[in-house]
Amino acid sequence: MSTPMYNIPGANPVSPSAQAPEPSAPASTARTVAQVLQESRIDEVLDELERDLVGLAPVKQRIRDIAALLVIDKLRMNLGLQAENPSLHMSFTGNPGTGKTTVAMRMAEILFRLGYVRKGHLVAVTRDDLVGQYIGHTAPKTKEILKKAMGGVLFIDEAYYLYRPDNERDYGQEAIEILLQVMENQRNDLVVILAGYKDRMDTFFQSNPGMSSRIAHHLDFPDYSVDELGRIAQMMLAKQHYRFDDGVADVFTQYLKRRVQMPHFANARSVRNALDRARLRQASRLFADRERELTAEDLTTLTAADILASRVFQESSV
Ligand SMILES: Nc1ncnc2c1ncn2[C@@H]1O[C@H](COP(=O)(O)OP(=O)(O)O)[C@@H](O)[C@H]1O
Ligand SMILES: [Mg+2]
Repeated sequence: MSTPMYNIPGANPVSPSAQAPEPSAPASTARTVAQVLQESRIDEVLDELERDLVGLAPVKQRIRDIAALLVIDKLRMNLGLQAENPSLHMSFTGNPGTGKTTVAMRMAEILFRLGYVRKGHLVAVTRDDLVGQYIGHTAPKTKEILKKAMGGVLFIDEAYYLYRPDNERDYGQEAIEILLQVMENQRNDLVVILAGYKDRMDTFFQSNPGMSSRIAHHLDFPDYSVDELGRIAQMMLAKQHYRFDDGVADVFTQYLKRRVQMPHFANARSVRNALDRARLRQASRLFADRERELTAEDLTTLTAADILASRVFQESSV
């Protein structure tokens, strides 16, 4: 073998005791789908996903399909028809703010509940967390991250930055090689999700067939419509005990129609940022009136002025 084997400490795929079952495949007597669902309670996660996330119909369907596959594989393992975990590494592509990180956390929870990973946490990283600046720095950095992620999901945002075709000696290549080995050899204890823009990810996979061949599921996250962004806003406000005053939802729709055409628009993240700024304006508005007794209604209501003061309405250049 030309490349050395990388052993991640504390992440040995072999169980410490000979009798103990694989950590990711707990002994189970389940023989029906209902029994697996009852043991794992993944329907709770699937229901939450359905309820808490606006839109994303194709993504939700893919998650349900993957969950079905995992449940059936569980039953196959219980009958000894399948010795190993299926490969579960995934790619989540889509523009910023389309819900990739949020869905990845739910996926981690599903994998945990079904026993495919021991802990079910998610470690989100970018190139800078994996790749060092100097020779000899990359392997320890990457291994440290892998150690943290073992038993859960390693979410690599903008994963294509690991590969720089213009620089043959780029240390990113070293990180990729370590990842590839761990993705193959320790897949009973770690699921890797590569995230980023679709076109760049496609190019990355074309140049890195080894990576491409280890990805079992590709999920594409569409941009949200203005209507969906409006519903996302309502949902975010309700969670924080705020509401739009009468008619303000329409003002916010006008805001969104302008915002989606402007630079740096980032789907649901832009909605979150817009609401944060509206809350700041509401606070300044309420703060100005020192003597007024503020009711619950005052403290929870965002008015048209709180939205209309945005720079989005000032700029005529849209
Ligand atoms: N479909 C959705 N419904 C409600 N909130 C969403 C939805 N998609 C994303 N969000 C929220 O938008 C923000 C950005 O989402 P995130 O998952 O970080 O996007 P990405 O990882 O694709 O950049 C988060 O606060 C998330 O909760
Ligand atoms: Mg993200």
